[in-house]
Amino acid sequence: MPERPHTSKPERLRRLLEGADPVRAVGAHNGLTARLAERAGFEAVWSSSFELSASQGLPDASLLGLAEFVDAAEAMDAAADLPVIADCDTGFGGPLNVAHALRRFERRGAAAICIEDKVFPKMNSFARTAHDLVPTEEFALKLKSGLQARTDPDFLLIARTEALIAGQGVPEALERARAYAAAGADAVLVHSKSTRPDDILEFGARWDGGVPLVAVPTTYGQVHERELFDAGYRIVIYANHGLRAAVSGVTSTLAALAASGRARDVEDGIATMPELFELQRMPADFKAAP
Ligand code: SPV
Ligand code: MG
Repeated sequence: MPERPHTSKPERLRRLLEGADPVRAVGAHNGLTARLAERAGFEAVWSSSFELSASQGLPDASLLGLAEFVDAAEAMDAAADLPVIADCDTGFGGPLNVAHALRRFERRGAAAICIEDKVFPKMNSFARTAHDLVPTEEFALKLKSGLQARTDPDFLLIARTEALIAGQGVPEALERARAYAAAGADAVLVHSKSTRPDDILEFGARWDGGVPLVAVPTTYGQVHERELFDAGYRIVIYANHGLRAAVSGVTSTLAALAASGRARDVEDGIATMPELFELQRMPADFKAAP
């Protein structure tokens, strides 16, 4: 049998970035949700700080630590044959923390990390609060420190600017993004909480920083991923749709069960035990009863 050439996940992500289609990443927070993203045909997993926090019943406000983020990313990498892009919030501290984090994620199977230019502790981008940014030069130093720590040249460091989230407008977002690309970032994520894609599309049209862009169409979900791709966004992250689907599904099923008092009444609308065994990769010898 011919030997299958081994392509590492970081290498695979880089190749995907050069392709003719958007790389679609789905938010996940554990092995199972990463596997569901793979089963649905997506190209990458976004290890989401929002999902990681929400799955523990916590706000997305820099409460969890590096070890919890790394453990989760490793579980996702192990469960799904997809590159994992690890959301690292503000990078767990200063330049040394970013270097340490990058090394840990690299060793534990992630394909990329993403750090954002907000002040620690950060609040989720959709929280109604001030979103203070660190000075551009300070964030560029964090990026450079992370890049110096990289041992696998294919591993990606994505810089995320929150300039639009902070209400600072497209020109400031562009200036920051240019500085981050010049510092060596492999891609730039431009986040927006606008209900229209206009700023994101304008940013793409004016982008001259030479690295691919990343978009997160949560509040401006009317835009098609192809339109984002044509505007320069090579990665499109559907950051939290799996978790939100799970919350609505579980809520309605449990409400129906509480009202009915009989398990059979909800069984037609939920996954079967054989399906779960399949998702768990239970050896075929062990069939689900009955
Ligand atoms: C996440 O999924 O954790 C993100 C995207 O960072 S957002 O929640 O929109 O900030
Ligand atoms: Mg996040």
